[in-house]
Amino acid sequence: MAFENNCKLKQVKMKRIIFSILLLSIGIVSMAQKFSNLALKPQMGWNSWNTFATEINEQVIMEIADAMVSTGLKEAGYEYILLDDGWMAMERDAKGNLVAHPEKFPSGIKHLADYVHSKGFKFGLYNCAGTKTCGGYPGSRGHEYQDALKYAEWDVDYLKYDWCNTDKLNPAEAYITMRDALFAAGRPVLFSICEWGNSNPWEWAGEVGHSWRTTGDIYDCFNCEFNHGTWSSWGVSKIIDMRNNDTLRKYSGPGHWNDMDMLEVGNGGMSFDEDQSHFMLWSLLNSPLILGNDIRKMSQQTLDVLTNKEVIAISQDELGIQGFKHTTIDSVNVWVKPLKNNEWAVCFLNRSTTAKQIEFNWEGTTFEDQISAIKAVFTKDNIFNIRDIYQKKNIGTTKKPLKISLNKYQSLTVRLTK
Ligand code: GLA
Repeated sequence: MAFENNCKLKQVKMKRIIFSILLLSIGIVSMAQKFSNLALKPQMGWNSWNTFATEINEQVIMEIADAMVSTGLKEAGYEYILLDDGWMAMERDAKGNLVAHPEKFPSGIKHLADYVHSKGFKFGLYNCAGTKTCGGYPGSRGHEYQDALKYAEWDVDYLKYDWCNTDKLNPAEAYITMRDALFAAGRPVLFSICEWGNSNPWEWAGEVGHSWRTTGDIYDCFNCEFNHGTWSSWGVSKIIDMRNNDTLRKYSGPGHWNDMDMLEVGNGGMSFDEDQSHFMLWSLLNSPLILGNDIRKMSQQTLDVLTNKEVIAISQDELGIQGFKHTTIDSVNVWVKPLKNNEWAVCFLNRSTTAKQIEFNWEGTTFEDQISAIKAVFTKDNIFNIRDIYQKKNIGTTKKPLKISLNKYQSLTVRLTK
């Protein structure tokens, strides 16, 4: 009897232990999350795609890293160097591991990551939730945990995760699987969701990634659509109109940003005015600032746009509130963004193909952010100083109407301070 009781006790204890292990493992699984404390401000960096497409190699990337330092871009805040599609061999190895493309990256990815880190940057890679990437290289589907371990082994800090060849995959589930795989691998990785906005990622991705593309691919023009046959890529002004930014802006904030795609500044398809407006709008709308030009060969004008500290300060403002369109006067959009210390950024953008002259009368105007309830009422007693942040000079106060002359797609952006 005593022996039987003893056996039963042991069985009960055993069951309890198994149950606890089960609970613990469920606990561990459900504790999986995205890495916090990353992208608390819209991420800044450089990505290979817009200039090089899949024609990348380790020499070019090392030269870009060097140029990011020597041109002052690093000092201006650009932090990540990212390889887009085309870095892998066409096949996984015998064990199913991703391998670097042998001709383009003969020294391997870890070697390149070490180089990029030695220059003071963080390093990132691209892959895809589907069976193959958009360029036809091995995708992560079915290899998510294995790939995440490989990234950790290579000291990868950033993953852009695309959406080609996904067949009937559920986007939220596919991205959660990769998020969990990265978390399980243990090395903090900024997770950049590139699903093009088709499944309203802003509604589910806040807990999954640090940014999500809201739109299809950008094209190097201000106001065109480039038709590839089955899909199109889009100019700057198409992207800012494509999803209603006023609806999306409530999803944007520290650690989770609406991503309007990488920058085309300096790639030659746009005038100086257009490049400047493009950079400004991405800053005002909290989109990640990921450069896409050849840093080794850019003009001084391009460098000036990309390193304008006063524009970058609008992007990186601590409040992290996405700007919004306040009004339109004779084809000139007035975009505003609340900033710390009750300051405001105001961008006047000429959407017309002809030059425009307008007067903006501050008195009687109210800027009100419906989300944060931050408000500015311009009256005779509530006067702000106006600073032109392109020219970097003060240009008066809100006491008098502002006279604005803008060429086609040109913008004027001011910071209002007390
Ligand atoms: C998709 C993405 C682009 C780029 C390419 C690579 O089109 O949206 O940003 O990564 O794939 O093939």
